[in-house]
Amino acid sequence: MQHRVCLTTSDRLLAKTRLLEAATAMNSKVYIETFGCQMNVADTERAVTGLRKAGYEMTSAPDEADVVLLNTCSVRERAERKVFRRVGELRKSPRRPVIGVMGCVAQLEGPSIFQKAAAVDLVIGTRATDRIPSLLARIRDGEKFVIDLEERQDGEVWDVSPAERRSPYVAFVPIIEGCNKFCSFCIVPYSRGREKSRGATEIVAEVRQLRSLGYKEVQLIGQNVNSYRPKTEDGLEGYVGATPFSRLLRAVAATGTERIKFTTSFPRDFHPDIVSAIEEYPNLCNWVHLPVQSGSDRMLKAMRRGHTSADYLRRVEMIKSSTRRLSLTSDIIVGFPGESEQDFENTMQLVRDCEFDGLFIFKYSKRNGTPAANFSQPVSEADKTARFLALEELQSSLQDKLYNKQVGRTLSVLVEKQSARSNHDVSGHSTCNKVVNFKGNMKQCGSIVDVLISEGKPNSLYGTAISG
Ligand code: 5AD
Ligand code: SF4
Repeated sequence: MQHRVCLTTSDRLLAKTRLLEAATAMNSKVYIETFGCQMNVADTERAVTGLRKAGYEMTSAPDEADVVLLNTCSVRERAERKVFRRVGELRKSPRRPVIGVMGCVAQLEGPSIFQKAAAVDLVIGTRATDRIPSLLARIRDGEKFVIDLEERQDGEVWDVSPAERRSPYVAFVPIIEGCNKFCSFCIVPYSRGREKSRGATEIVAEVRQLRSLGYKEVQLIGQNVNSYRPKTEDGLEGYVGATPFSRLLRAVAATGTERIKFTTSFPRDFHPDIVSAIEEYPNLCNWVHLPVQSGSDRMLKAMRRGHTSADYLRRVEMIKSSTRRLSLTSDIIVGFPGESEQDFENTMQLVRDCEFDGLFIFKYSKRNGTPAANFSQPVSEADKTARFLALEELQSSLQDKLYNKQVGRTLSVLVEKQSARSNHDVSGHSTCNKVVNFKGNMKQCGSIVDVLISEGKPNSLYGTAISG
């Protein structure tokens, strides 16, 4: 008996798209350059998975690529300028690939990218990652200036092939995209849109799969993981916790994955129950990244952070009093509009009080479209630099003491690569997210080793393996 297949118009369209994609993909090599945060790294992994499925080959050599995609960051001006510089270089390359801009700059600048850099053929918004193959097919079909700034579409689920992950040992798992906080300096709510949480069932299934594939560490990522709020409780049933995020932490910990880290946290949403969860599950790692941005209440108000320095210090106290000896890292912006010497001194004092295990310091960078871009009293470049250097010096002296206190302790280290400094040493991260180097060999990569710390260095620790 013969069956007739009846194609609806949308089926036909889909079939045509697939055919077009396959024709485009044949023998085409794609190179993706990734800038910015882990979210971009995760997006690149997702894009590569989709491109390979559509028949593309990936290459690590831009010179031999038919398509070059720049996955961009716009959090500070310098990162944004880099993109246009790179387009200029690619335009002159002998092979003249198809040039696509994806990521935050693509979403924010939209069609104006074609005016600013005429060599760009394709603009891919932050939610269009899964549609790259069909966008490339349109270019192959002769269409010019292809752009997609639309939302994710129904049925597009996070799908990253393990083969495309940057590391075979540590996997980034996005749990929430976007941000609703609208801190006055920050472009993220505009470039990544409103918060959208992934379902817990999907996240837990992915973590389980990663574990069965041998991944030793999973990092749950998002701009503000603490405000994780999925549409339903599916996948969280049976896990107690004061917030959906702390319930998710317990559900993920219950998979038995060796190490689970999460970043980034937001002070106002950092519930004490997160620390309780860490205390209950040894595989939830003892590290919290909690950006404060400033130690001055006047600046925190202007930054629209929704917390004071006292609120922050209360969180720090709670974190530091944990039985798990949690390590704490943070971000600070210096030179925000209107920041006086006194405001800056308050930041220095907060840093002295908090004794951070690590600190990322940024000079304020004006981002058009954010409220702070219209604030008066800009801080001069010279003052920004002076404050940056003063804070850096303070942090490095505090960090030296803190790192020296680790001498004599044993840290559990996931070995990731050969050390950059010596062929005889390997390098990895501790559960508290510090870089640890020790004498070892490449065969140890991917294993978890106990290391007795003998020396503190500026941004790393040195020790001797006592297991593994
Ligand atoms: N200027 C400087 N630093 C910024 N950050 C975000 N936006 C800006 C800006 N406009 C910093 C914050 C944030 C980190 C990821 O980048 O400290 O926590
Ligand atoms: Fe930006 Fe604030 Fe959201 Fe962080 S919490 S991504 S700083 S708006």
